[in-house]
Amino acid sequence: MSLDIIIGAQWGDEGKGRITDHLAKSANIVARYSGGDNAGHTVTVGREIFKLHLLPSGVIHPNVVGVLGNGMVINPKRLIEEMETLKAKGVDVSPSRIKISYAAHLITPAHVALDKANEIALGQGKIGTTGRGIGPAYTDKNARRGLRAEIFADMESAADQVETHIAQANMTLEKIHGQPTLNPKAVAAEFAEYAARLKPYITDTSLYLYQALKENKNVLAEGAQGSLLDIDHGTYPYVTSSSPTTGGAFTGLGIAPQFTRRVIGVTKAFQTRVGEGPFPTEAFGAEAERLRGTGANPWDEYGTTTGRPRRCGWIDLVLLRYSARINGLTELAITKMDVLSGLDRVRLCVAYSQDGKIYEELPLGPSHLAGCEAVYEEVKGWSEDVSSVRKINDLPQAAREYLNRIEALIGLPIKMISVGPEREQIVIRD
Ligand code: GDP
Ligand code: IMO
Ligand code: MG
Repeated sequence: MSLDIIIGAQWGDEGKGRITDHLAKSANIVARYSGGDNAGHTVTVGREIFKLHLLPSGVIHPNVVGVLGNGMVINPKRLIEEMETLKAKGVDVSPSRIKISYAAHLITPAHVALDKANEIALGQGKIGTTGRGIGPAYTDKNARRGLRAEIFADMESAADQVETHIAQANMTLEKIHGQPTLNPKAVAAEFAEYAARLKPYITDTSLYLYQALKENKNVLAEGAQGSLLDIDHGTYPYVTSSSPTTGGAFTGLGIAPQFTRRVIGVTKAFQTRVGEGPFPTEAFGAEAERLRGTGANPWDEYGTTTGRPRRCGWIDLVLLRYSARINGLTELAITKMDVLSGLDRVRLCVAYSQDGKIYEELPLGPSHLAGCEAVYEEVKGWSEDVSSVRKINDLPQAAREYLNRIEALIGLPIKMISVGPEREQIVIRD
């Protein structure tokens, strides 16, 4: 029995979808445990580019069953749309292949409206959310008034619950935000349609996963977002409202830690972030533009979910070390090594300086990064195109030195090195 967990080690968009797709070849189940359609995971298969938001990336492999765990918040409208898109591309999305936890929470149009209203109210101090209703849905969950996927099993008796939820949200929308309200009956009717479609998918996914692990099946937990966006361990308040870190995989799936074999931290060869919040290694001007790309390539740094340009900078090893510690990472997977080709020098942040002192660990967690200045080490760049490299020894010497330096400073082996978005563009190290 084995549980491998894929964790975003930075601020999201590290290439988790790409690494999940690689590992899903030998998995039986791929399970999402946190977040909702704020996630955008890209999988490239030849000319086909799949963008997954709610369904686990593994479902593209016919051998895999996809699980949407109890830790997720699911917008049923968007889920049905995503299923239709995948179906049109030949992916089987029947209930034998996709299981939704009865305890996952539902995102309603009221959550989406409240998310946008909250951001408007924050003005300059906004979080820069994806506007998908994530924060308000987790707020309702924690206030013990949320709607869970189990209501789809008996929507007739749950119609009142939906109407009450909308009526309550309307008060906040109207009285606090001066925003338009929603029609409770219309939303309940809409949800009755979603229920008819999704009812066969609702099950006890915790039990399903437990039985699979007992039967020696391979389960892959696919993290969404990134460790630095974690509600507890991220750059609070500039975070999401869920737990993308390793602990979140256990509560978000209802499985126990002893099944765990590998915890794989996915990191880019550099660093990006979308939305507001601190970013000590952020680059600006021509340097940032070079890392971001113009948008001409599908992998250039523009959001998969929102299309927003991502803020770009150099790899931050202080934050990566923190991420390795709080997640119990056993190894790293590094993506986008190809993007660094052609730079004269590559920079790594190895410490911070603050008030004349040097810190190799965060002075007071990631929410207190303001005033921390990155201390860089520079290594030689490489000019060679590495996108067709498949063996570690075929990487240019300078690229290998860059990777060695990361391994040494984090204290973890880099087991996968992605050199392009395509399935075969990867170097595997035993
Ligand atoms: P995720 O949210 O962590 O799954 O990452 P995203 O899918 O949002 O963003 C990663 C982007 O980089 C996608 O466009 C991927 O296809 C692309 N990508 C992943 N690995 C590599 C790589 O090694 N090289 C290049 N050029 N692109 C990559
Ligand atoms: P994947 O899974 C990058 C960011 C948003 C914002 C903050 C809060 O593709 O890596 P939210 O809508 O969650 O309330 O927004 O979190 N964010 C992400 N950034 N990748 C993601 O997902 C993200 N999901 C949320 O930009 O800063
Ligand atoms: Mg993404």
